[in-house]
Amino acid sequence: MKGPFSLFALAAVALAQDEGSAVLTAIQIQSDLTQLFAALQLFPDVVSTLRSASNITIFAPTDTAFAALGSDAPTGDALAAVLNYHVVQGQYPASTIPTMPTYVQTLLTPELSQTDTALTNVTGGQYVGVVNNGTGVQLLSGNLAVSNVVEADIIQGGSISIHKIDRVLTLPENLAITLSEVAGASTIVDAAIVADLSETLTTVEDLTIFVPNDAAFEAIGSVLATANLETLQSVLQYHAITGAVFFAEDVTNTTSPSLAGNLTLSVIDGAVFVNEAKVIIPNIILSNGVAHVIDSVLNPLATEPFDRASLSPSNSPVVAFQGASPTAVSLGLPRPAPTTTLSVPAVLTSGLATVTGTRASASGSATNSGPAVASASGESGASSQRIVGGLHAAGGLLGVVALLA
Ligand SMILES: *[C@@H]1O[C@H](CO)[C@@H](O)[C@H](O)[C@H]1NC(C)=O
Ligand SMILES: *[C@@H]1O[C@H](CO)[C@@H](O)[C@H](O)[C@H]1NC(C)=O
Ligand SMILES: *[C@@H]1O[C@H](CO)[C@@H](O)[C@H](O)[C@H]1NC(C)=O
Ligand SMILES: *[C@@H]1O[C@H](CO)[C@@H](O)[C@H](O)[C@H]1NC(C)=O
Ligand SMILES: *[C@@H]1O[C@H](CO)[C@@H](O)[C@H](O)[C@H]1NC(C)=O
Repeated sequence: MKGPFSLFALAAVALAQDEGSAVLTAIQIQSDLTQLFAALQLFPDVVSTLRSASNITIFAPTDTAFAALGSDAPTGDALAAVLNYHVVQGQYPASTIPTMPTYVQTLLTPELSQTDTALTNVTGGQYVGVVNNGTGVQLLSGNLAVSNVVEADIIQGGSISIHKIDRVLTLPENLAITLSEVAGASTIVDAAIVADLSETLTTVEDLTIFVPNDAAFEAIGSVLATANLETLQSVLQYHAITGAVFFAEDVTNTTSPSLAGNLTLSVIDGAVFVNEAKVIIPNIILSNGVAHVIDSVLNPLATEPFDRASLSPSNSPVVAFQGASPTAVSLGLPRPAPTTTLSVPAVLTSGLATVTGTRASASGSATNSGPAVASASGESGASSQRIVGGLHAAGGLLGVVALLA
């Protein structure tokens, strides 16, 4: 610490501390932020981070928001993680928040997850979505939760912005927990278990995963029924990119290596495609990255690289496995019925052209691929017809457990 440069550095730290302290005071004097202020006092580390912070945005849940948590209110390390998740890197006064959902990183980093539980495995900080919906600012967090900014810019000037929100942000959870609650897209959870990839996909750092919806799995039911473990693993691995978290807004016409071969990403008229599959629910934030629900299952066994020029969006969904015939598939694993079914908020898909014409929706049936695909009724329920065990018996991994409707 010598010379004029360090003097400047010290001055900058001193200024930042003044600003950080002012921010804590600004929170303290708000009559509807008493729970937030009290929660901060429990975590000296979080307070000291805020004291020395600059260029951040704090989304401050109101007392009503905390009260609404009831018995779900986090405590201990989980509460510290939740507080860090409410602090976004970068200053975003309300007027700068874009009209397309945009995903920004928070102070909830893997290093700050002090418990054994997976709070985040996203390098550089877990993401939260911000969007100006035309009348106000909304935030998108874990489990497809939406929070509204109820009072924007409660402090002016400086490099820190604070906005009050009406709902505490939800910490993103892992693939298994999150997707099991997304209507029409939960087969992936069983498929990952059967393929012995569940642990990998729920803990690997920085994951972008394309999740075929239930109708897409059904459309290749005949293939799944005879697939061996190796084939199933390679099919699922082909849907996963690790080492990069791509939100839909980040996708350009490009190729990206998956865990089993290259994927061709394309954007056409605002719709996002991976190979021939179309993204129908984008940007589901996970503890270790992001999931995008797509309308068909990607085929890693295709001999030629996918040719973007062959894309025909009006024919989506396309069955990428030649000769596949639809069969209602149940992977037969006993999984407790989810306590909640998440609905997809309109604002999540507002940045993306997702559904036009006759394309299948997340819960719909395929309309362009021959025989109607049976619906996955009872997919996530506790079906008494499910066959348990014998998963690794020879002669078709899924054949053993397939439930033919
Ligand atoms: C503020 O933070 C954002 C996000 O980390 C970064 O992109 C930007 O360069 C920072 N601005 C300044 C002035 O440090
Ligand atoms: C985070 O990722 C690493 C590397 O894949 C893994 O070993 C670890 O278990 C993960 N941690 C959590 C909390 O998921
Ligand atoms: C837009 O955001 C505002 C403020 O967050 C909220 O009150 C309003 O309900 C939202 N509008 C829609 C259509 O969701
Ligand atoms: C993926 O693409 C890269 C770069 O274009 C290429 O070098 C590599 O061979 C491709 N991998 C496969 C499995 O096709
Ligand atoms: C991406 O590729 C598609 C299909 O070839 C094309 O229609 C589209 O214009 C391309 N987008 C960009 C930004 O080049």
